[in-house]
Amino acid sequence: MAIELKFLVCLVILSARANSIIDKDLKGKNIIVTGAARGIGYAIADNFLANGVNQIIILDKNVTNGIRAAETLKCKYGRDKVIFIPCDVTKDLHLWDDIVDEHGPIHVLVNNAGILEEDQPREMILTNSVAPIEWSLKFREYARNDKGGSGGTIINTASRSGYRITPFMVSYISSKHASLAFSKSLGHPYNFKRTGIRIVALCPELTYTASSSLSSRLILGQRVVAQSLLRPLFRRIIAFRWAGSM
Ligand SMILES: *[C@@H]1O[C@H](CO)[C@@H](O)[C@H](O)[C@H]1NC(C)=O
Repeated sequence: MAIELKFLVCLVILSARANSIIDKDLKGKNIIVTGAARGIGYAIADNFLANGVNQIIILDKNVTNGIRAAETLKCKYGRDKVIFIPCDVTKDLHLWDDIVDEHGPIHVLVNNAGILEEDQPREMILTNSVAPIEWSLKFREYARNDKGGSGGTIINTASRSGYRITPFMVSYISSKHASLAFSKSLGHPYNFKRTGIRIVALCPELTYTASSSLSSRLILGQRVVAQSLLRPLFRRIIAFRWAGSM
């Protein structure tokens, strides 16, 4: 029996004139990706490097996985292209100044670190909602062009759960709703005009990663999600469909 499944990866470009300031030329850009030791974060880091960015700074609380991811990417793209910094995004915002001093300027912040643990709602809200808000506000203060910064881009890995309601995974859905609402508010044209900070929220369908236990045949590949992110950076595409079958 063949069942055709259609998945939608929706990229919400939240700021006005997103295309006009988009990083058409990724060369020279330094990009922080949180939770990039594996999964979607890793795929995003890999894809940015494949498209010629200057440096990726991986933040992840899992040191073993972080070192391994950084080594793999260094072998692929060059040793000076990747830095790994052990970091728990819910606790280590104080690392920001050192990161900027040592590895700045930072042009793009990807708030990707996230967990799906329904039995730990507090930890999940801290990781999926509070941390992206705190890191975004930190980056915004640093980069806003009305205070001498050069503008920049924040990419939040939300989820389709950020705008849908289901009877399942209620805490996870709540955490992603918060993340998406924050992205929309901070990316409001009013804020964009004042600060030059663009916000992009990535809202993938269920994606096959190390943290998802679902059948890989049913869900999106993390590479597909990562690649969808760069498309609007070059073209006026805000959503595309990916058809898989099983
Ligand atoms: C890091 O992740 C691996 C699985 O990928 C896990 O086995 C290990 O316990 C994790 N380490 C820490 C310190 O969380």
